[in-house]
Amino acid sequence: MYQVPQITSSIYYVGVNDRMKERFENVWSIPSGVAYNAYLILDEQTTLIDTVDVCYSDVFFHKLDILLEGRPLDYLIINHMEPDHGGSIGLLRQRYPNMQIVGNKKTFEMLRGFHGITTGLHEVKSGDALRIGKHEFSFLMAPMVHWPEVMFTYEQTNRVLFSADAFGSFGALSGHILDSHLGDRQAYLEEMIRYYACVIGKYGPFVKKALVNMDKQGLDVDFVCPAHGVVWTKAGFAEARQLYDRLSSDEAEEGVVVLYGSMYGNTEQLADVIAQSLAASGVKSIVCHNVTKSDPSVILRDVFRYRGLIIGSPTYCGELFSPIENLMNLIRIRDVKARLYGAFASHTWAPAALKRLLPFADEMKWEAVGEGVEMKMADLPSILSAAWSLGTAMAERLKA
Ligand SMILES: Cc1cc2nc3c(=O)[nH]c(=O)nc-3n(C[C@H](O)[C@H](O)[C@H](O)COP(=O)(O)O)c2cc1C
Ligand SMILES: [Fe+2]
Ligand SMILES: [Fe+2]
Repeated sequence: MYQVPQITSSIYYVGVNDRMKERFENVWSIPSGVAYNAYLILDEQTTLIDTVDVCYSDVFFHKLDILLEGRPLDYLIINHMEPDHGGSIGLLRQRYPNMQIVGNKKTFEMLRGFHGITTGLHEVKSGDALRIGKHEFSFLMAPMVHWPEVMFTYEQTNRVLFSADAFGSFGALSGHILDSHLGDRQAYLEEMIRYYACVIGKYGPFVKKALVNMDKQGLDVDFVCPAHGVVWTKAGFAEARQLYDRLSSDEAEEGVVVLYGSMYGNTEQLADVIAQSLAASGVKSIVCHNVTKSDPSVILRDVFRYRGLIIGSPTYCGELFSPIENLMNLIRIRDVKARLYGAFASHTWAPAALKRLLPFADEMKWEAVGEGVEMKMADLPSILSAAWSLGTAMAERLKA
């Protein structure tokens, strides 16, 4: 018999998998898809936490029908209004016209805008509680943990935190819902970092604040149910939380991303020399990314992860190679903090790339490391020792 996955005996997973879309937000690659998570709690009053992307509303409503067995839906709690979660709210209201919608002031402004809904609202703020029988929810505002209206919902009886986008990961769910049942939890942790870097990364200080508020409330959690990806059990959450603490602070792992663009492979030769120098100086984690080959979301993931960043570009029509410029802009928008930065470039007749790369350190308030390296007319031998020195300087600074 078909079974809807359960977190506890009364909390059901009613999310959906999307392996159809090419890109999340129409930008970020999702080779393993993405899950839009929603949760149904059956008690004296039935309560749904979040909905799903409207493309999947039929599948979603079918799951609700199976579980509700003709009962009405009494409450919808909205943790996040972004259309990947809020997309089915309008249709849901048509199916359950008496359903009360629980959200905060900002949620309701968006609810009016996106869905024209202005009635049947139950407004909450941090610390408020809602009892539906054996289960009791409390609410914790988490503004700008992606959008301004975001809040977390905590269910006290089962010690379950519904954390919106926080702790969410890319990757559809392949059968298992709980991280403890996965063969490879590490893959989801990596996908959690990639989701963070692409979607939430800009809002690190707000994430930090939300984490501090969670601690202040002394929330003891047995399960953390994010809006995407696996549900974390206590042990898995300890790892996810550690990563979030680090990502939302200015801490990064000891490692270096060598990010470069190259039309004919000359700048790439420099990148390789620098990477070899880093390796010879004892740096363990070194990732070289060719900007037009590597996926931008993977580049961003690694930039968020590692403390060192060395960028290289050929001069291109008197400018930076434009894919490098674009990637630098993605880093700029995300306000990545506290990196150690180096730069290298190549040209043939009139150099321009290096003088555009070097000021990035000041602009981002990062520490510039080593001397910028400039190669002319693909003359690698003449620049080998300068490239080697850049790698050595970065390695020494990383370890200092
Ligand atoms: C489309 C194009 C535009 C270029 N524009 C410039 C330029 O404005 N100034 C310059 O000195 N070299 C220019 N170059 C030469 C390259 O910057 C130089 O050969 C560089 O080493 C190429 O590195 P790569 O092999 O990594 O692509 C240009 C090359 C190409 C293909
Ligand atoms: Fe979001
Ligand atoms: Fe989301």
